[in-house]
Formats: sequence, structure tokens, C-alpha cells
Amino acid sequence: MRAAVIDGFGTPDTLHLADLPVPRPGPGEVLVEVAAAGVNAIDWASRAGRAVGVPSFPAVLGWDLAGTVAATGPGAGRFAVGDAVYGMPRFPALAGAYAEYAVAPETELAAVPGGLTMVEAAAVPMPALTAWQTLFELGGLTAGQRVLVAGAAGGVGHIVVQLAADAGAEVIGTASARNRDFVLSLGAKEVVAHDMVREVGNVDLAVDPMGGAEYFRMLDVVRPGGIVVTLKGEGPQHRRAAQEHRVRAGFTYVQPDSGVLDRLAPLLAEGRLRPHVERVFPLGEAAQAHELGEQGHVRGRLVLDLS
Ligand SMILES: NC(=O)c1ccc[n+]([C@@H]2O[C@H](COP(=O)([O-])OP(=O)(O)OC[C@H]3O[C@@H](n4cnc5c(N)ncnc54)[C@H](OP(=O)(O)O)[C@@H]3O)[C@@H](O)[C@H]2O)c1
Repeated sequence: MRAAVIDGFGTPDTLHLADLPVPRPGPGEVLVEVAAAGVNAIDWASRAGRAVGVPSFPAVLGWDLAGTVAATGPGAGRFAVGDAVYGMPRFPALAGAYAEYAVAPETELAAVPGGLTMVEAAAVPMPALTAWQTLFELGGLTAGQRVLVAGAAGGVGHIVVQLAADAGAEVIGTASARNRDFVLSLGAKEVVAHDMVREVGNVDLAVDPMGGAEYFRMLDVVRPGGIVVTLKGEGPQHRRAAQEHRVRAGFTYVQPDSGVLDRLAPLLAEGRLRPHVERVFPLGEAAQAHELGEQGHVRGRLVLDLS
């Protein structure tokens, strides 16, 4: 099978096509013929050696995948050959989504919701799982709360905005000027520039995808008893500063969860949640996708089309 591999850590051009054996599904696993793979920020961080552990080379990156079940392993009965499935299997261990075939535990996959193309489905899992776990599992979001979402036009942010608005929250997003209308179209009530979160007041839940200075600016606008959830890891200085502000501090480290994907299916099928795909690349242009993504201004998600 063709796969986009790295033989070591490095710049985007480290990614190149190679022929690898088709993996075999083990107990409880299925072999997925990958139709599309989402390109997430963790992919380029991992390629550069800054994120997940890579046990050996050549390594196949990529976690978000959508495709068709091509074979089932011993004891796997949740899906049949030919079923359309998607998910973010194995994270943070390697899933090998940048390949024509990938093997995944069937419990970490869900059926592709009706009406979604494979490319759209591949844009969903990591952003949506991160958004759900941040808003509802850590953040305890309820209708009527005010939610501040930094990077509201990004892969994670654009899903956070939609899920929060759908749950009845009042959403304020940060974005560059060119993304203002896009973020409003997702259901945000207000959009401010990235460095202007101090203009926003009385926030119940703030989502910080960047870490650093933005996190500390958010503490000033979250009400006492509210929560800031970062996606970038927190240290003692974050927790100390949050405590001083009488704000709760949370950190999302996304986990595979097919139950959450199943719960999102009606929202996706009804168009209440819509993944935005800025650009689609063939597998052989994974390096170009990383180059563009790393510039930090993609709207929604980039996807590799393997079909
Ligand atoms: N911990 C976890 O489990 C987890 C899971 C998923 C992602 N993450 C992390 O969350 C972050 C976001 O992920 P992603 O997939 O959404 O990335 P992404 O799609 O690459 O983010 C791109 C977005 O970042 C925005 N941005 C640029 N400069 C910004 C700034 N100074 N402040 C706020 N936003 C800014 C851009 O908005 P404009 O173009 O409008 O400027 C763009 O829309 C990444 O750092 C990723 O590693 C963590």
C-alpha cells in the first residue's frame, strides 16, 4: 500500500511516499481502507519531534481517518466489511492514517453519519472529541453561559463554537479580520481580535488553544468560579494564577471515544454541526498540507484525499 512516511523527525519535506505492507487486523480490530485523513496540528508537531512518541521509523503519522471496513480481525463484530467508519484511533499511540490502509480497534471507530462525505468525516474526530471533552466533560457547559473561544476559525475552534452555540451558550470567538464573518456564521455572537480578549467580560468558560500569554489574559475575563480550559498543557504557574483569580483551571488531552462520535451523529446528519474543509490534498502532497497548516491560519481543517 502507499503511505506518506517519515524516516526521521524534520521539516515538512521529510514526508514522502513509500510502499508498505498492508497491516493485518488483530483481535477486536478492523482493517480500514482509508478514503481520507484529517491533518491536525499534532501531526506536524509529531513530524517535527515535538509531540507524541514515535517508536520506530519509517513512521506513518495521522490519526483522523474515514474509510471503509476492508476486513475484520478475530472477535471483531461491531462493523461489517463495507461499512463506512471514522475516528481518531489509538491516540496518542500512532494510528497510521496517512496510508491506504490502517488497522484500528473497532471500539474507537463510529459509523460515518449520513450526509457526510469521507473528506468531511475525516475533518471531524480530533477537533470534535477535543471540543466535546473541553466543553461538556471538563467545562460542564450549560445553556445560557458565556463561552470565550480563542482561535475560533481553526480546526478545533470552529467545532467548539458550533457545539457551544448549539448547546445554547453565548459564544465570543477570537479570529483574524478575514475570519470574522466565518466565525459569526458558525453561531458566535461576537468576534474580537486574538489580542483583545480583555474587551470581553463575565465569561463562564474560556477555551485556550495556544497556551502562553493568551491563557493569562483569559483569566482576567473569566468570572470567579468560572473555568479556563487549555489545550496546551498547564504548569504550576497556570494553576497558581488561576487560583489567584478564583478561576478553575482545566487541561484537555483528547482521548478516542466512539460514544461521543455516536452522540454527534444526529448533529452532523442534521447540519447542526458542519466541519469546514479549507483545502484537500492528495496523499503525495502531505508535505504541502503540513507546510500550509504550520503557518497557523487555516480555516477549519486540511484533509488528505486517498480515494
Ligand atoms: N490537548 C489536546 O488534546 C489538543 C487537541 C487538539 C488540538 N490541540 C491544540 O490546540 C491548538 C489548536 O488546534 P487546531 O487544530 O485548531 O489548530 P489549527 O487549526 O492549526 O489552528 C489554526 C487557527 O489558529 C488561529 N490562530 C492564529 N494565531 C492565533 C492566536 N494568536 N491566538 C489564537 N488563535 C490563533 C488561526 O486563526 P486566524 O487565522 O483567524 O488568525 C487559525 O484559524 C493546537 O495548538 C493543537 O496542538 C490540543
